[in-house]
Amino acid sequence: MKAITVEPKKTGTAKLVDIPEPGLHEGSVLVQAIAVGVCGTDVEIVEGKYGWPPPGQQTLVLGHESLGRVIDPGPSSGLKRGDLVVGIVRRPDPVPCPNCAVGEWDMCRNGLYTERGIKEIHGFMSEYWRIEPEYAIKIDPTLGILGVLLEPSSVVAKALEQVSLIGRRSFWEPKTALITGAGPVGLLAALFAKLYGLDVHVLDRIVGGLKADLVRELGGTYHSGSVKDLDFEPDTILECTGVGQVISESVKKIGANGIVCLAGIGHGGATREGSVADVAASAVLRNNVIVGSVNANKRHWYRASQFLARADRKWLAKLITRIERPENFAHALQRKPDDIKVVIQFSEV
Ligand code: BGC
Repeated sequence: MKAITVEPKKTGTAKLVDIPEPGLHEGSVLVQAIAVGVCGTDVEIVEGKYGWPPPGQQTLVLGHESLGRVIDPGPSSGLKRGDLVVGIVRRPDPVPCPNCAVGEWDMCRNGLYTERGIKEIHGFMSEYWRIEPEYAIKIDPTLGILGVLLEPSSVVAKALEQVSLIGRRSFWEPKTALITGAGPVGLLAALFAKLYGLDVHVLDRIVGGLKADLVRELGGTYHSGSVKDLDFEPDTILECTGVGQVISESVKKIGANGIVCLAGIGHGGATREGSVADVAASAVLRNNVIVGSVNANKRHWYRASQFLARADRKWLAKLITRIERPENFAHALQRKPDDIKVVIQFSEV
């Protein structure tokens, strides 16, 4: 079967190659791939900056944002042939640490977790993949190809859950949410925050266009300036850019008692927005919480699937701005200014 593989930590090694079909040891459910979403993490892996192959191997099958059709449900999954499923990305560490032991692999303490298509287990960019029944999430079939948005949605569901849990440390009546970055995670966060009943603002460096239209269609407000120039103080900021200046401005802009949830992963860069101590002082004096959030456990995948099932299909469809064939994977991995979510399609829905 065809698969897109990479040699992690080496640039220019991504290839479409023939590999053997997956063995039973990879899971009792056999799935035919329909589509796989591309995200910044995939680009980093292809650029040689991130990723780990399975132990004893040199290459890793890429892809963690999956959607497939069950071909063989195996003996005990409760799934049926033809069901649409998405694979959970992370697996608990083998020790296991206390969090993995209770199913919170997203909060793994010792870093020995594995992640499909990222860390030590093959991903989903292959014509067929196998999965353990307990890591297969069945999706509403009316979502069709939009089911490929479930993985980024699970990341959003976790981040929003963290904010609402932390909010309960004091009287908490959030009204306004700011989302920085109008990529797929930011826009899905805007959608879910709207479903939570919040007044939603989204900020991105792109002026106008599809991103702005999508935010307005949700009933939110789109901003294209900088966080420091906003004329309101959000109760919650979900930071999805990973850009230093946006982060420090966010910590200074958040309202008293507000929560800044960092969901974007960036690197380096200098900030002109004062020292770490200044940013910290602003957080101390206003009882702010700055929390990082990564990955998702089964509870978040479940919530995300509920949110997606309720969402307007036409709006969701506009998030997928480009569909590429596996042969054009290199093109799919190149970011273009108008891209929101790029998807590699392996077979028809
Ligand atoms: C994925 C997460 C993963 C993280 C770190 C993200 O792109 O969506 O599932 O935990 O990368 O590897």
